[in-house]
This record gives sequence, structure tokens and C-alpha cells, in this order.
Amino acid sequence: MSHPARVDNFGAGPAVLPESVLLEVQEELLNYRQSGMSVMEMSHRGKAYEEIQEEAEARLRRLLQVSDEYEVLFLQGGASLQFAMLPLNFRGEGSEAAYVLSGSWANKAMQEAETTGRVRIAGSSKEQGFRSIPTQWNTKESDAYVHITTNNTIYGTQWRQLPEKQSVPLVADMSSDMLSRPFAMTNFDMVYGGAQKNLGPAGVTLVLLRREWVQQAVMEEVPKVMRYATHISGKSRYNTPPVFSVYVLGKVLKWLESMGGLRGIEQLNEDKAGTLYTAIDKSEGFYRGYAQASSRSRMNVTFNLASDELEQKFLREAAESGFVGLSGHRSVGGCRASIYNALSLEACSRLAEFMQTFRKNN
Ligand SMILES: Cc1ncc(COP(=O)(O)O)c(C=O)c1O
Repeated sequence: MSHPARVDNFGAGPAVLPESVLLEVQEELLNYRQSGMSVMEMSHRGKAYEEIQEEAEARLRRLLQVSDEYEVLFLQGGASLQFAMLPLNFRGEGSEAAYVLSGSWANKAMQEAETTGRVRIAGSSKEQGFRSIPTQWNTKESDAYVHITTNNTIYGTQWRQLPEKQSVPLVADMSSDMLSRPFAMTNFDMVYGGAQKNLGPAGVTLVLLRREWVQQAVMEEVPKVMRYATHISGKSRYNTPPVFSVYVLGKVLKWLESMGGLRGIEQLNEDKAGTLYTAIDKSEGFYRGYAQASSRSRMNVTFNLASDELEQKFLREAAESGFVGLSGHRSVGGCRASIYNALSLEACSRLAEFMQTFRKNN
């Protein structure tokens, strides 16, 4: 029952949001709960916003089953700022931080850490063109932490099975699969991700941190605004938070609960991905999946056609048929269908059908 003007949005982010959430936002836009103003216009210190943020945090904790051993932060600056904050807060003088290189974003996280200290590569799938998640990787007792990227947005690979607890703190960039499936937070010391793919509008970054770990951090040289401790004691309001993004995020979390929580959304995401991978695998080589089958992402389905020209034709005709955002990342080309939480199974079925028709005609 989608609005007639809306397209099937396969964009990689900022990405599709649940239509019911957009309608609720529209309804409340001019006058949020009799306040006479929009959430965009209200003080981040006022009661109305305080409730919005507290409710969002409570929903997030329920969905992820996160205990109060963990802090929840709503920050600005995207995952990219976390690339910088993480080593500043947790590497400590003279020690090394370990990174598993599974794609471009993992590499960017490591490069940012390299600007302020020592890093080491714990494992890599670069030699395999990042078509798979590294199967071989290691930690050393001396590592300050080990960092992984759970879903590689550009290459379309995903840690299907997340690692167990490590002997050193485990940190994950979950920017492109956070809250798309259940996972055990207790195995991690920190997870983070921008909201703009699975969870809401751009502008807010979720950071979950083990409290004990933050307490151990040595902070003398770190600017105050870059310390997790600052944002924890300021309850994510040390400076002005992205109030509107947090408000919409809260509504998306409520929508997630109505979808059966993380188990419910996981099943839906499996079905959606299955629909597209089947279309690829049954095409007798017309569509070629980029990722190795065992590392295939449930969030970003990457594929190529036989030539550049054919890919361009595919993308053009897809757009004309209302399938938007299917071109691959500018660094790798090809095609990519991003199928985050809010994209419907029906949209994936329509795309699979379009792929079949395009193949027959070409
Ligand atoms: C896995 C991953 N990490 C980090 C980022 C960068 O996020 P941001 O633009 O929020 O800094 C992205 C963006 O697409 C991503 O996909």
C-alpha cells in the first residue's frame, strides 16, 4: 500500500525508511504532541526531547537485550568520527591496535587510526579482491583491541557468523547491518554505526560501549569532545545532539518492534536476500555475484553483467522501471542492490522479476 509516487529505493544510504514512520513524522511535523512546534525546533534540554531520547535508548536496549553494563550514545560525526575516536580513547601510549581488513571501510578505519599511532593488520581478504570475509585472523595479547567491519557495504560481504568473545577487546563497525539481525552484545566491547542505512536519517551515530572498558581509558591528551567519557557524563547532550534524527530513529525502533524485533527482521532480510541471490544464481552466468557465496551479505547484493555497456543498459532500464539506486559504489562499479531493513520483500520480488525479463530480452 505504498504511496504511488514512491520508487523501489535500493540506495546504499541514506536509504529507504518505513513509510509508516514517514507518515507519522508528517503528522507530527508542525505540532509535536501539543507542543506547538516541530521536534526540529525544540530545545535539546527540554522535557519533550529528553523523553524522545530516553525512549529511543530504552527501545534499543530492549531490542538488543543490552544490560546496563553498556553505555548507549547518540553522537554526530558518522562512523568516520568513530574511526578516529576509537584509537584515541583506547589504544594507550605505545600500544598497537589490530584491524581485520575486509573492505574499503575497514581500511579507512585503520588508516584513520594510523594517523595517531600504531596499527597492525590482524587478517585481510584484500588479495581475494575483498570477495570474502577473512577466514584467518589473529589477536595478540598486546593488542589494544581488534576491530572488524561486520558488513562490507561496497563489496557486499558480511560476517555471517560473528566472532565469539576475544582475549582482547572486540570492536565492530556495524554501519551497514546494525539491528538487521540479533547478535550477542556481550561478545563486544564496542559497536557503532551511522543510522542512515537500517535505522533512520543521517546525522546520528549509535555507539554502544562496555562501561568498564571506558573507565580504564587514559585520556590526558585527548580533546574533551573526543572522549567517550565526556559524552557519557553529558548523556549524549554534552553538545547539541541531532534531535530530529534521534526522534526519527526512535520511531524506526518502534517499527522494528512491530516487525517481530530482530528475529522477525532477520527472517525478512533472509527472504529478501534469498530472492535476489536466487535470481543471480539461476541466470546461468548472465548475472555474476561479486561476493563468494559463503560471505554473501544480506544487506548489499553486489553483481556484475558481462560488459560495462550491458551494466549501463541494465541500470538505465531499471531506473525507468522505478528501481532506483542500483549502481555499484563509485570505487568498484557494477551493480548493487541495498536491501536494508525498511525495503520490502515485494520490492525485491519485483526487482528479481525485472532481472529475469531483462535477461530474456538481452
Ligand atoms: C561499513 C561502513 N562503515 C563506515 C561508513 C562511513 O559512515 P559515515 O558516512 O557515517 O561516516 C560507511 C558508509 O557507507 C559504511 O558502509
